[in-house]
Amino acid sequence: MSEHSNSAEARDLAYHLHSFTHLESLAEDGPLVLESGDGIYVTDNHGKRYIEGISGLWNIVVGFGEQRIAEAAFAQMKKLPAYHTFFGRTASPVIDLAERLIELAPVAMKRVYFVNSGSEANDTAIKMLWMLNKGAGKPDKRKIISRKSAYHGTTVASCSLNGKPYINCFGLPLKEILYADCPHYWRDGLPGECEEDYAGRLADNLEALIQAEGADTIAGFIAEPVMGAGGALVPPKGYFEKIEAVLRRHDIAIISDEVVCGFGRTGSMWGCETYNFRPDIICTSKCLTAGYFPMGAVLMSPEIDAQLMQAAEALGEFPHGFTTAGHPVGAAIALKTLELISEPDGMFDNLCKVAPHFQAGLQKFADHPLVGEARGVGLIGALEIVADKATKTPFAENHLIGEQVVRAAQKNGLILRPIGESVIFAPPFIITEAEIDDMFARTAKVLDEIEAIVEKDGLRAAAVTAAAE
Ligand SMILES: Cc1ncc(COP(=O)(O)O)c(C=O)c1O
Repeated sequence: MSEHSNSAEARDLAYHLHSFTHLESLAEDGPLVLESGDGIYVTDNHGKRYIEGISGLWNIVVGFGEQRIAEAAFAQMKKLPAYHTFFGRTASPVIDLAERLIELAPVAMKRVYFVNSGSEANDTAIKMLWMLNKGAGKPDKRKIISRKSAYHGTTVASCSLNGKPYINCFGLPLKEILYADCPHYWRDGLPGECEEDYAGRLADNLEALIQAEGADTIAGFIAEPVMGAGGALVPPKGYFEKIEAVLRRHDIAIISDEVVCGFGRTGSMWGCETYNFRPDIICTSKCLTAGYFPMGAVLMSPEIDAQLMQAAEALGEFPHGFTTAGHPVGAAIALKTLELISEPDGMFDNLCKVAPHFQAGLQKFADHPLVGEARGVGLIGALEIVADKATKTPFAENHLIGEQVVRAAQKNGLILRPIGESVIFAPPFIITEAEIDDMFARTAKVLDEIEAIVEKDGLRAAAVTAAAE
């Protein structure tokens, strides 16, 4: 880290509070200050170049320095630089985008509501369900089922949906939030239980939860098709089909949180297409603008829309809105991003072409002594780090091996992300096979470096002994 007291790093440490950042590592290594980007690479303020192995926060899928998006933004900035969607007003690119999203939707959807982020999308979906149920004379139908280890955002309601212990530091969850099982077959499948049976057991548990709470108190179920910040957890075979059957039986709306999976990441345009379920509400953000502008959207099925409209008519309006949502510059950027992703021979086609190479490369790590599970789908993957492969024993939490892998990767010019003891990969959709090979060559070097430390310091033996005690 730069020693000068007026360096960018020192000023950042002095004045800036980072999101979700391990404070000790930050104090030791200093922040990573980025200055520019091109393709899948970003360059820091010392001229060092990195492969961006997770597309920023899963979102910068078109790569960095995409001039066509910059030009679309600039053109809109010059024409109408800002507007809103209150009081029946809007700008024409916002209408074009709503229409395009309805066209792209995986199932028949009726209407789109714009927001600024994934968290706002999820909060909005919850408020929609609360309002339409109250309007239909069912004021007690309010509970939302999320899942353990899920991540749905950071505002009060969406943070409550996060099945993570840290939310307790805010006095959350809200009282209406329930949690179903986290679907992680490798970790939680019973000996001799096949994936389908495991999925069936989770569906039975969901049925039992609904019975215990009372279906008439439950408004919705929210799920990420692939759990992103839960550790890139790919659902077991048959999981969503079985879960959907339970929810339909009890008239519980399904919200697909497509903030990470939407627009291609899993190898289909939508995660719910990859996993074969039919959402009533879709929440999306991130890839919608490839991270070039804060924007999100909520897509409503005709049934949800009709019920919401009925409740809104009684009130005279939908009393909800964010000043900068439905922004014309965001809409122009989204339209260009969706064009680049979905056009023939575009970025989605590239993703589909390179995804098998990416998944095969990821699987090569399955034999590494540090890797318990190599998992993924499309252009998303994770390596789950364990101390003991046979027993799946993790390293002691305070050894932070996942964090160490990611820090070592950064020194080797590769930006990755730790989630618990998993190391996550989600490169931009434009990545080539040669770049994937380079990314995994750096990963192999880093894993060997960390393995040498683990052996030297006896960390594996310590974890195995601790687990046996
Ligand atoms: C699945 C999912 N939903 C919602 C969110 C929240 O989105 P935002 O950070 O834009 O509020 C995220 C963020 O990572 C996410 O991964």
